Amino acid sequence: MTDTTQPAGPRALATLHPRDGIAVLRSAMPLPDLGGQLANNAFVFDGREPMLVDTGFALLSEDMLAALAAEIDPRRLRRIFLSHADADHVGNLAAVLELAPEARVLTGFLGYAKLMLTGFPVDRVQVIAPGDTLDLGDRRLSVLRPPYYDAPETLGFHDAASDTLFVVDAFGAVLPAITRTAEQIDDDALDRGLETWSQLDAPWLASLDRAALEASLAALSALAPRLVLGAHLPPALDVDALIERILRLHARGRAPALRNAA
Ligand SMILES: [Fe+2]
Ligand SMILES: [Fe+2]
Repeated sequence: MTDTTQPAGPRALATLHPRDGIAVLRSAMPLPDLGGQLANNAFVFDGREPMLVDTGFALLSEDMLAALAAEIDPRRLRRIFLSHADADHVGNLAAVLELAPEARVLTGFLGYAKLMLTGFPVDRVQVIAPGDTLDLGDRRLSVLRPPYYDAPETLGFHDAASDTLFVVDAFGAVLPAITRTAEQIDDDALDRGLETWSQLDAPWLASLDRAALEASLAALSALAPRLVLGAHLPPALDVDALIERILRLHARGRAPALRNAA
């Protein structure tokens, strides 16, 4: 399904199942000043110890909780992997925790601190770090730091059981339409979308040392994932194609150029 409409506010999209046991709970935010819209994804990793990954926008709480309940009885959730404490990832955390009494929140140290400083009860929060291994019974997740991000606590992971990589805000793109896979996006539109989003979300990427960027991207390539899940990109199958695009865009050396459109 390709949706090219441009409503005024965020809206929910149909859930996708790119692999058995993995659901993509989708929404989209129109960004007309930037020429498109931004996907916003949360994920359910089902299995012996089910996990929700991020919690979506508070503005779409009803839709998000309905999409979650359609995938899994929230009482079965054992973990909520919170990639970072931005509003588009943490929006329904409190609501989900009420529905999921057995679930613990996993997040980085600064994420823990941000939750605490905003008055969120942190008794169910467990701090994790890059290099940690999370045993979910039938999945073992390797926690990692994505190559670029917008909050320093940001953590993603690699799930060896499904060959899936979660890159959080990296590889996000402002797109003319939210497709079912990244591979369905027109080449030029994806380049423009990646560049627009990275200028907005991680402006330091343009000045990042080339060798450091190449090294962090090579580490992702070495994992050879068959599925790449990002918060702000449709599910992708080819991590090397995304890496090639980022390296090509980085080589252009474009400085961040966004201005308030008003
Ligand atoms: Fe973010
Ligand atoms: Fe985000």
